[in-house]
Amino acid sequence: MCGIVGYIGGRPAQDILLAGLKRLEYRGYDSSGMTVILPVKNSLLTRKSPGKINALAKLLKYKPLKGSIGIAHTRWATHGAPTQANAHPHADCDNEIVLVHNGIIENYEILKEQLLKEGHLFSSQTDTEVIVHLIEKFYKDIPLEDAVRKALKLVSGSFAIAVISSREPEKLIGARSGSPLILGIGKNENFIASDAPAILGYTKNIVFLGENEIAVLSKNGYKITDLEGRQLTKKPERLAWDIEQAQKQGYKHFMLKEINEQPGIIENLINLRIPRDSRIIFKEQFIGAQKLKSIKNIFVVACGTAYHAGLVGKYIFESISKIPTQIDVSSEFRYRELLINKDTLVLAISQSGETADTLAGVRQARKLGASVISICNVLGSTLTRESDGVIYTHAGPEIGVASTKAYTAQLVAIYLFAFYLAKIRNAILPARLDRLIKELKKIPGRQAEILKEQDAIARVSRRHSHLGSFLYLGRNVNYPSALEGALKLKEISYIPAEGYAAGEMKHGPIALIDEYRAVVCIAAGSKVYEKMVSNIQEIRSRRGKIIAIATEGDNNIKELTGEVIYVPKCDELFSPLLVALPLQLLAYHISVKRGCDVDQPRNLAKSVTVE
Ligand code: AGP
Repeated sequence: MCGIVGYIGGRPAQDILLAGLKRLEYRGYDSSGMTVILPVKNSLLTRKSPGKINALAKLLKYKPLKGSIGIAHTRWATHGAPTQANAHPHADCDNEIVLVHNGIIENYEILKEQLLKEGHLFSSQTDTEVIVHLIEKFYKDIPLEDAVRKALKLVSGSFAIAVISSREPEKLIGARSGSPLILGIGKNENFIASDAPAILGYTKNIVFLGENEIAVLSKNGYKITDLEGRQLTKKPERLAWDIEQAQKQGYKHFMLKEINEQPGIIENLINLRIPRDSRIIFKEQFIGAQKLKSIKNIFVVACGTAYHAGLVGKYIFESISKIPTQIDVSSEFRYRELLINKDTLVLAISQSGETADTLAGVRQARKLGASVISICNVLGSTLTRESDGVIYTHAGPEIGVASTKAYTAQLVAIYLFAFYLAKIRNAILPARLDRLIKELKKIPGRQAEILKEQDAIARVSRRHSHLGSFLYLGRNVNYPSALEGALKLKEISYIPAEGYAAGEMKHGPIALIDEYRAVVCIAAGSKVYEKMVSNIQEIRSRRGKIIAIATEGDNNIKELTGEVIYVPKCDELFSPLLVALPLQLLAYHISVKRGCDVDQPRNLAKSVTVE
């Protein structure tokens, strides 16, 4: 996810654009840049810098941009490391057109190949740059917006763009498909932005650009058309939000926003990898299929929530890819007598890519000859640069300290990788693989159904927020879900909570059960469902307060406990992707009820970069 701002009016653009970027920094902050049309000769002048927006601000202090039309961008890298060259804006060959982009162009390689053949010179590794060269290709004797329209018809994937040209300096163009873009309508000035916070300080009159719409803004007006050039009438809406609310898009906390982003993020990740049924694509920076065919075992190394994703992965790799899989938390892995070698694939999972223990584990593994693949959310992070291959989760910046969208994105990356391994190692019948892919593709919709029940889940949460401790029980592929649910609760509500394999209850935890403790039982439909029901009966007979997570239509559970949160039916292998949402919402609403700092809980940091 990146942040885009554009301005056209009578005031100096630089400070308006910079202030707008600062308001969008939560969308991405690994590099940034700005271009302004200089009034003298209408030339385009660009300033870019890797690092946070402050680095760009410092650069502009010494090398200011003077002009009243411009675009700016803060980046969350998806293709190409966060370097100066890859920072946006990107220009055409003659520096007459400049563009910023938020999204992923899925067919950029084939487009780039063709443009290179036609003599276009590229200066970055980004997918974005193909768009501005495509516009250049068509921008011959037609208006800029028509050249933009022609170019956008050739790209597939998601985009929100802003474009300016020295040849038509009185225009600021925006367009979107799959990524958000809004117009801010001021007095003799207009704005474009990824999100309202960037421009709320100047105007609350907002036009929300729709899918496949193109806007042409001048100082005194705007025109909107569709990709076919048909004119559309869209009146500005008055936005009631203040800036703080708008950064969270109206959600009370980033964590709640990120919980609600999950269906879209995992749908995008699945489609990025499997655009057509049973074709699974792992291209960028990947170790060869030959090597993956030869590995004898997988060893997963991760911390916290990433460890729980890896634990689900153990069940998935062994069930789908038929590869023996071990796992350990990074802080233990790095000090163990590791019996790994060149036949081992180490899978390092980390949202930030900067967790010290995981990095140390990976370095140890490489010394022993193991190949390392990482599942990571931050392009260019240390872990990605020390791995033989990387599977990016493309979840966008996760601002809440408690990991939510990154967790389910890690799970999807694991399912996709397991499918890929199973396929290249002939470990699965094609019919079963097709069935599993179809089942995975239904998950975003099923997650969306769960999110429609948030109010009911909030009510269950609040009814139990006074209890002094929680026990989370799950079995098989949802045993890690129990661990993850407990971690979510303890880290944002400070209530003692522990996750346990339900089969272990009689080996100790049952002594804890009484009417003062909540027991969250994950009883979604599965081959161990009856065993979970027995656990629930044992807890009920000791007056434990049970919250069950069950599959829609399961009335049996309702008779055993009044507090049931239902999830849609699905193949049990994928149920961790569904039960994660009620567990996240349970923790969130209990934390809010207890007045805790949900997004920045005490004692914690988003990334543990020290031992
Ligand atoms: C999860 O909610 C926590 N914030 C924490 O356990 C986190 O998962 C852990 O620190 C690992 O971080 P990483 O994924 O960036 O390596």
